[in-house]
Amino acid sequence: MRISIDQAAKILNEAGVVGVPTETVYGLAASLSHPEAIDQIFSLKKRPQDNPLIIHVVSTEQILPFAQSLPPSFQDLANAFWPGPLTMIIPIIPETINPHVRADLPTAGFRIPQHLQTRQLIEKAGPLAMPSANLSGRPSSTCASHVEEDFGSDFPVLDGGCCVRGLESTILHYRDGEWLIVRLGALSSELFESVLGYQPRVVGKEKARLCPGQFHRHYAPKANLMMDRRFPPANIPCIVGFSDREYPPGKKVLTLGSSIDPAGVATNLYHVLRQLDKEAIPLAWVDVDFPSDGLWITIAERLHRAASKK
Ligand code: TXA
Ligand code: MG
Repeated sequence: MRISIDQAAKILNEAGVVGVPTETVYGLAASLSHPEAIDQIFSLKKRPQDNPLIIHVVSTEQILPFAQSLPPSFQDLANAFWPGPLTMIIPIIPETINPHVRADLPTAGFRIPQHLQTRQLIEKAGPLAMPSANLSGRPSSTCASHVEEDFGSDFPVLDGGCCVRGLESTILHYRDGEWLIVRLGALSSELFESVLGYQPRVVGKEKARLCPGQFHRHYAPKANLMMDRRFPPANIPCIVGFSDREYPPGKKVLTLGSSIDPAGVATNLYHVLRQLDKEAIPLAWVDVDFPSDGLWITIAERLHRAASKK
């Protein structure tokens, strides 16, 4: 059910939950000041309680009352990338934030989104805790209709069009003297070099501890995905590939966009993963013959996790 900004603000102020567009993916929003709404997010999404939520604000001033301290370069990163698809994890004063939002951690993730409607809504309803608006484990939602697919056609959604980035925010966490990427996202590691003087390392094994959400199954359609650079096997019914490539005839092809346009592929990615389910496709071969730099790294990571049955 599509609603206006005023209706969304009213629902949030009355401790309800609404679907909200952002430039990355749609979020499932609750007001930070309504604990019962926060709990509703976890039950609606079937989200494990140990997976904290990102807090969305419109200014760094709104973060200050929660912050224990601000890590070095926090303000430089904020100036360079906010509003936009960056989340920064910072140490917080625990009493200031509901423990369910931060999964009992002494830190919280903050982001200033760019989407105009998200910002207008935060102006009216205050800081919003907002995970991606999908059932846990499913691909994120990049259009209002995806939110309705997961939560029903009566679920209130503020329709802000399809998300221009199509991938979640990149999450940075400051540890032991350096910023680390704890979740790859819409901003690639290279982009931080001009601000930090180095490209933040993408964490490997420490991931589960530094970003609990990375531990859980994610982004997966029901279809089995075959990730292989070799040509698709003859018996494969469906190919997830690129519009500028030739594939064997007689197969269904779901296109991610042009193989030289990673930003465009990012925008389409979750839509295509959801399309597999909509068309009840049981098995697809994914063309992963693309570069391993910039945004392609995030795209490859999402595809690998979508293919993983863990
Ligand atoms: O682009 C985005 O970030 C979207 C839009 C709606 O803003 N939100 C989003 O939220 O992707 P979600 O809940 O799907 O993913 C949030 C991730 C999870 O992996 C969670 O573990 C991590 O952020 N996270 C949140 N707070 C954290 C904290 N205090 N410490 C470590 N990781 C944290
Ligand atoms: Mg998510």
